[in-house]
Amino acid sequence: MSDKRWAAVLGLLFLSFLYLLFQFMSSTYRNQALIRQLSETETGASSKPHVMLISQELDNPYWRMIEQGARDAANRLGIALEYVGPLRINTEEQTMLLEKAIAAKVDAILLQGIHSIAYTRLIDQAVAQGIPVITVDADSPDSKRLSYVGTDNYESGRRLGEIVAEAGRAFSDRPVTKIGVLIGSNLAENQTLRLDGFRSVISRHRSLQIVDVRVSNISRIEAAQKASEMLYLHPDIAIIVGMSALDGAGILQAAKSSGRDDVLIFGFDDIEETKQALARGEIEATIIQKPYRMGYDSVSIIHDVLEGRSAPARHLMDTEVLTKDGIRLE
Ligand code: BGC
Repeated sequence: MSDKRWAAVLGLLFLSFLYLLFQFMSSTYRNQALIRQLSETETGASSKPHVMLISQELDNPYWRMIEQGARDAANRLGIALEYVGPLRINTEEQTMLLEKAIAAKVDAILLQGIHSIAYTRLIDQAVAQGIPVITVDADSPDSKRLSYVGTDNYESGRRLGEIVAEAGRAFSDRPVTKIGVLIGSNLAENQTLRLDGFRSVISRHRSLQIVDVRVSNISRIEAAQKASEMLYLHPDIAIIVGMSALDGAGILQAAKSSGRDDVLIFGFDDIEETKQALARGEIEATIIQKPYRMGYDSVSIIHDVLEGRSAPARHLMDTEVLTKDGIRLE
């Protein structure tokens, strides 16, 4: 090969080498930039306090409202909020989620209280390990939780009792007005307190009698089944009340399918179905809680605690009554 050809081959080899070197360096640079970006995101996330919110049921519309309030406060205050819960009401799963939160060493826990010794012990364990716990919607008063954020449940049950007692006057021709009651769960303190408050009023009226109390497991379908059973066993029931968010709609379904449009129905909360039934005059009244504010305020309080400020032992919010005539009573 002539010298010229050799020079051309060497020149080409050198250019290919330069091209490969350039490719190698620019891909190394791109990789490093990506790694930097990822680790910045990670440090950013971990520099925010990690707060876990454990609900009673993940997709329940009432809990989704609590989640929304909690997310809005978390975004405003720079908190990384993780919302979890069983797909269907399940206290064992709630307990497992609490165990997981403690094992993951989250910075704080917001959760629904349950009547359970194991759960109470776990709350105390979290607190002993320096993880502050706030109960939301239902309390665990025997635990070392820092604060309870939610409705005054005894009072709200009493309020429902007053409204039902007033409505009971429509049956003054009967010696007794029979009442059926659905509660969402007997392991949730909010439900048992509502029932106690309700009973405290009804028991003062000799003409009113609670003839049946059943558990709906916070499910509209189960509420419908339980209400149908009540209507079958006590055909002269005049009033049925439901103490958790989906009970009103379930009772209405049962009344319709049993051909009992004379039964007066009272419910809790203002999920869409209840609002529509009220507007059609099929539900007499509902007690409205403030789930969005429960979420918002519980995150704000935990933020204060994480910043070294104190928390009130109870942060209660009022209820309102919405009647079928569209009247809102404070
Ligand atoms: C109760 C919650 C419950 C929800 C169920 C509400 O009235 O306060 O504890 O999870 O109903 O639908």
